[in-house]
Amino acid sequence: MSSDWILDEKQYAGEEHLDPEQVATYDEKIPFDPTAEISLLQEYGLSAGDTVVDFGTGTGVFPLAVADYCSRVVAIDIAEPMVDITRRKVAEQALDNVEVVHDGFISYQHQGEPADVVFSKNALHHLPDFWKVEALKTVGDTLKEEGVFRLRDLVYSFDPQDSHDEIEQWLEEMEPTVFTNEELHAHFREEFSTYDFLLEAMLEEAGFEILDTTYTRGFYAAYTCKWNGDLE
Ligand SMILES: C[S@@+](CC[C@H](N)C(=O)[O-])C[C@H]1O[C@@H](n2cnc3c(N)ncnc32)[C@H](O)[C@@H]1O
Repeated sequence: MSSDWILDEKQYAGEEHLDPEQVATYDEKIPFDPTAEISLLQEYGLSAGDTVVDFGTGTGVFPLAVADYCSRVVAIDIAEPMVDITRRKVAEQALDNVEVVHDGFISYQHQGEPADVVFSKNALHHLPDFWKVEALKTVGDTLKEEGVFRLRDLVYSFDPQDSHDEIEQWLEEMEPTVFTNEELHAHFREEFSTYDFLLEAMLEEAGFEILDTTYTRGFYAAYTCKWNGDLE
């Protein structure tokens, strides 16, 4: 079968994630404390014998933290510099239950016991909508029946009629942060954040039941979902 029509995921990964110099300062620039996410996953059943998979792991903050609370962690990223930095951290901390895999949301094929939990933060918006659904199909193929998918991303939950005003206002609010104006503008121009109603439909069509949804400031979303695909 020809695979020439399959998206080259690396081309969409974001230039800043493919540049070792920028990746070296990523944790300083965009700190992430995964404690609340791990507590929430424990409420949804995360336990010591579980397998956890993280798509678009970046510098590996989540997999390194969750490794203490489960039996196997697979951390996946399409950008080599991200994979290198995560592998280095895993080696430095001598973690023997974290595997770092250089692969994509769409192309990954899970090996071993199906995952109990899949996590992904701020990665899915790198893919255009058709390919988001392909990525969600990979998540389903990775999970056990009734496994939990925790998805966080930049998602638009404002009224489409207000898009220009909402985006201009968000850009104004974001200006004093660590991101340059060019980086902020490029998010809208070059990346693929989508609307809440589209992403909810994609999740449901891909076989997920959405258990919990949080939308913040019109730009950020978090979903906790259950994989029901094989039961339909
Ligand atoms: C904004 S960073 C978020 C990193 C991390 N999840 C966090 O929240 O700190 C997005 C990450 O997704 C990765 N990524 C983008 N597209 C991907 C794809 N198709 N498959 C796997 N990883 C991807 C990028 O290389 C980058 O490391």
